[in-house]
Amino acid sequence: MKVTVVGAGNVGATCANVIAQDDFVHEVVLLDIKEGTAEGKSLDIWQTSPIDLYDTRVIGSTNDYSKTAGSDVVVITSGLPRKPGMSRDDLIATNAGIVKGVTENIMKHSPNTIIVVVSNPLDVMTYCAYRTANIDSSRVFGMAGILDTARYKSFLAEALNTSPKDIQAVLMGGHGDTMVPLPRYTTVAGIPVTELISTEKLNAIIERTKKGGGELVNLMGTSAWYAPGAAAAQMVKAIIKDQKRIFPCCAWLQGQYGLKDIYLGVPVKLGKKGIEEVIELKLTKDEMALLNQSAKSVKEVMDVLDNSQMAVK
Ligand code: NAI
Ligand code: 2OP
Repeated sequence: MKVTVVGAGNVGATCANVIAQDDFVHEVVLLDIKEGTAEGKSLDIWQTSPIDLYDTRVIGSTNDYSKTAGSDVVVITSGLPRKPGMSRDDLIATNAGIVKGVTENIMKHSPNTIIVVVSNPLDVMTYCAYRTANIDSSRVFGMAGILDTARYKSFLAEALNTSPKDIQAVLMGGHGDTMVPLPRYTTVAGIPVTELISTEKLNAIIERTKKGGGELVNLMGTSAWYAPGAAAAQMVKAIIKDQKRIFPCCAWLQGQYGLKDIYLGVPVKLGKKGIEEVIELKLTKDEMALLNQSAKSVKEVMDVLDNSQMAVK
């Protein structure tokens, strides 16, 4: 099995490193447009193999897509990250051009691949890759929900002084401040979280989660990479190993949740065919209202793309 990660920046290199260390594919190709960067980082990662004891070959490439040929999964992380004061949507024009070009090259060399998009603004870049690749939507989807849910779980683990391993949660909606964490579907070792924490504390955690990306941008001057890279790698593993795991992912909706022609975060089953099922939860009226609000803000940015010169016709 072969995986390509496009973009050897913070997120891409981390993702490639996690995949290599986990030793579940034969080869990881890391590709970047910046001369030597992907080769250098790949060599560095590969040199951890005798220390960490794995066999995955890690190959670097400066924009030579022939090296990516026959990839089973491609992760797209190429594009600008946020700087303080920027929203994810500010990245749209530049990143749409990058994601479109990258997707065209990927499809030329790996027509049967599954594509996992990470570049921001996530929901709209996933849409851009889908329109460009022109393949079934079960093979093009985005990573955000695993990251946002991980942030929510980590804050809860801290507040409850419990292991993050015991926390189960679902978070839906777009990758932005309108994301929808769902306390009704949050448990700690099977115990509803609402029995363990006050509403006030839980609401504060939900608000912190919604702004979790911005918190890190303000601390570091650029966006996060350890958790995003690991989250994308977890999706790749579920696909390659046909695990049928259920994760919140950015998926193309065709009537599910009453929403159509939109990429949005929903729980899905991931296996070797990509998205094998979109899981439809029975949301309450209030939860549905929040999801619709999130969908509305994603749709507005999708429209910006559709009406721009970057539109994929
Ligand atoms: P970075 O700046 O560290 O890396 C981006 C890399 O993309 C650079 O090495 C750059 O040379 C490369 N690149 C640019 N154009 C390219 C092209 N045409 N072909 C190949 N490579 C190209 O940025 P970082 O931190 O790795 O973030 C990458 C993207 O992921 C950003 O758009 C960021 O906003 C997004 N992101 C998304 C998350 C999510 O949850 N979906 C979480 C964290 C970041
Ligand atoms: C994050 O949530 C910026 O999307 C990026 O960390």
